[in-house]
Amino acid sequence: METSDKYMYYHGLMLPNVVHTEESLKYARTFKVQDEDVFAITYPKSGTTWMQEILPLVMNGGDLTPVQTVPNWDRVPWLEETRAALVLNDRPSPRAMATHLPYHLMPPSFFTCKAKVIYVTRNPKDIAVSSFHFHNMASFLDDPGTFDQFLDKFLSGQVLFGKWTDHVKSWRNADIGNRILFVTYEEMVQDLNGVLCRFAQFLGREMSQEVLEKVANHCQFSNMKNNTMSNYSLVPQDLMDSSKSPFLRKGTTGDWRNHFSPEQEAKFSAVIKQEMKGTGFKFPWDD
Ligand code: A3P
Repeated sequence: METSDKYMYYHGLMLPNVVHTEESLKYARTFKVQDEDVFAITYPKSGTTWMQEILPLVMNGGDLTPVQTVPNWDRVPWLEETRAALVLNDRPSPRAMATHLPYHLMPPSFFTCKAKVIYVTRNPKDIAVSSFHFHNMASFLDDPGTFDQFLDKFLSGQVLFGKWTDHVKSWRNADIGNRILFVTYEEMVQDLNGVLCRFAQFLGREMSQEVLEKVANHCQFSNMKNNTMSNYSLVPQDLMDSSKSPFLRKGTTGDWRNHFSPEQEAKFSAVIKQEMKGTGFKFPWDD
């Protein structure tokens, strides 16, 4: 595996140094998960920021205060990142957290408690496109090279948090019964109201029709793009240069069609299909 001073390696996974340290990973390893905690779990570029908007709203009756006053990384912190210890220690349960960790790297307390998980999957072709643009705008990540070169890195897992197929398989095989709800980014784009209802039901929260519509409206791509607390405009430009590509870039499904050549698509699909073979997982973009 290529090495870079921008990354550290944790159980073989490549993580950016800018937000991960030995201490932050130790914090994640020893974190005491509580029964009422809720995790949004994703492979990077699958809709994490969107979940960081949605979860506090669904969990708190549509109160907009947190999403209008607290940056997404403190509102729903990543368990493995440096901000977690700063914001989670004093936060009472129920806490909403995000993580990109695979199942087997969750802290021991996670496996024995009743905390719930919403796992978001996205078409890996769109993830690769989103990630490619992210690498072009984020100076704390390596230059992605050409799109073709980046696709090779993506398929071989030389990208943040390793292979997409490993991540999806690890969580699809999670042995935590009905504590986990699977949703796709594509379903969220197609029917956000319906997905929000599923979230509310899963998390045991009541949402009136009026609140549901308010939340769905607030979480629309165009509105999130204008929310300073969620659009990463608070991050200095030398770290994230939105003039190269905004963090909230397109927010659509199928943008891969504008990037992949037929050869790239054939190769990519063949590798993903091979690695997902026998798992029985059916995703909406298979057809
Ligand atoms: P694109 O680059 O395809 O636009 P993550 O937060 O996991 O890093 O994922 C980022 C991706 O989610 C980006 O995809 C971003 O635009 C998209 N996203 C964030 N909020 C969204 C929303 N409200 N609706 C649709 N897509 C959203």
